[in-house]
Amino acid sequence: MDKFVIEGRVPLFGTSRVSGAKNASLALIPASLLTSGKTILSNTPRLNDVFTMSKLITRLGAVCNFEGHDLEIDTSGVNNQEAPYELVKKMRASIYVLGPLLARYGYAKVSLPGGCAWGPRPVDLHIRSMIKLGASIEIENGYIIGRAKKLQGATISFDRSTVGATGNLLMAAVLAKGHTIINNASMEPEVTNLIQLLTAMGAKISGIASPILEIEGVDELHPARVETIPDRVEAATLLTAAAITNGKITLNHCSPIHLLSPVAKLQEAGALVSSYGSTVSIDAANIELKSVDVATSPFPGFPTDMQAQWIALMSIAAGVSTITDTIYTDRFSHVPELNRLGSSISIKDNSAIVRGVPKLTGAKVMSTDLRASASLVLGGLAAYGTTEVLRVYHLDRGYEKLEEKLSLLGANITRVAGSEY
Ligand code: EPZ
Repeated sequence: MDKFVIEGRVPLFGTSRVSGAKNASLALIPASLLTSGKTILSNTPRLNDVFTMSKLITRLGAVCNFEGHDLEIDTSGVNNQEAPYELVKKMRASIYVLGPLLARYGYAKVSLPGGCAWGPRPVDLHIRSMIKLGASIEIENGYIIGRAKKLQGATISFDRSTVGATGNLLMAAVLAKGHTIINNASMEPEVTNLIQLLTAMGAKISGIASPILEIEGVDELHPARVETIPDRVEAATLLTAAAITNGKITLNHCSPIHLLSPVAKLQEAGALVSSYGSTVSIDAANIELKSVDVATSPFPGFPTDMQAQWIALMSIAAGVSTITDTIYTDRFSHVPELNRLGSSISIKDNSAIVRGVPKLTGAKVMSTDLRASASLVLGGLAAYGTTEVLRVYHLDRGYEKLEEKLSLLGANITRVAGSEY
């Protein structure tokens, strides 16, 4: 298992290109199952969760071809509608194949995902959505078995905003008979990117980027091409890396409009941030970081996927800050590891209370999940001395060559293959 070795205290400087959004790709790839032929997803990030999702739909009979960052998916050979446990357990987003398979083939057998590093992460909203569209669902031996002669449009109201269930339901409703309304739909940019692809494939969807989506089912869809949006979480992570090292960087190929909440918080913490077209620049040189409270919420609020990285930044800010996760109440496995670097963080219910300390000092720290590992990298970049971030396979799931991007910005970070941990 690989680790990163980081010599901290180097201010980041320079320019970096943001990759395509992992959480868009993980919905766009299964959407190709809704038709037969070659769908092309440009600006697809080359990272492990995308490779896992590609492997899953290959198992279903599709053929995936990466040309640079263009992913071509040929679904003309799809002949299997069963997503096995050994693939689904690696990545919860595999549940995204449920909707397209039910809609196109009337049958799907998808392993239940099980838990993840920080909690149960149920899929009840996905299952209830399919039942509302007329599917019969049985749970047998850890598998979801769905059948539907023809899905029927319905009105579904989510009690809470859910990215995955909104995406799954969209992919089922586009081929259902009749009209579907999704109330309290997720407005995440990744869902909007999915709607762009579905519309390009011939789907009839209105209410884009609003909490009420309306879908008029069609008989069939055709292959299409879409550009994957830039990854707002990677962009915000890199901006935070510049802030925690008192650096000054520019990111290109990103979507400033998707970064308004993290940018507002970075400005509140004292950084100078500006944007122009598809670039965002941050100047945090010589600033004294101020403590800033955050409460995560669905887009356009502060993303839960930036909660861990924000805690790392606040660990060396002057004052005390409270970071509350309203989406995942137990997503704090990074906190004990950050405290090994010398931070002073305590947890109370679904909040982290962060008392800023004058400095962090390097140590061996263990990644537990994707964004936790990103926060440990940020801690290492700020710490005096050497930090070893172990089990970076977690990080490789959701960032494309992060250590290379950070090195190009001046960070002293190297990947050591095959660590003993
Ligand atoms: C997506 O997960 C993202 N993953 C997550 O990013 C992100 O943290 C999350 O949305 C919230 O923004 C992908 O897009 C692949 P949800 P998802 O359904 O769809 C509860 C990362 O780091 N819930 O919006 O699984 C759930 O437990 C990953 O890139 C149910 O109760 O999230 C959570 O508390 C981590 N039942 C809340 O809803 C369900 O059936 C929001 O979850 C589904 C969800």
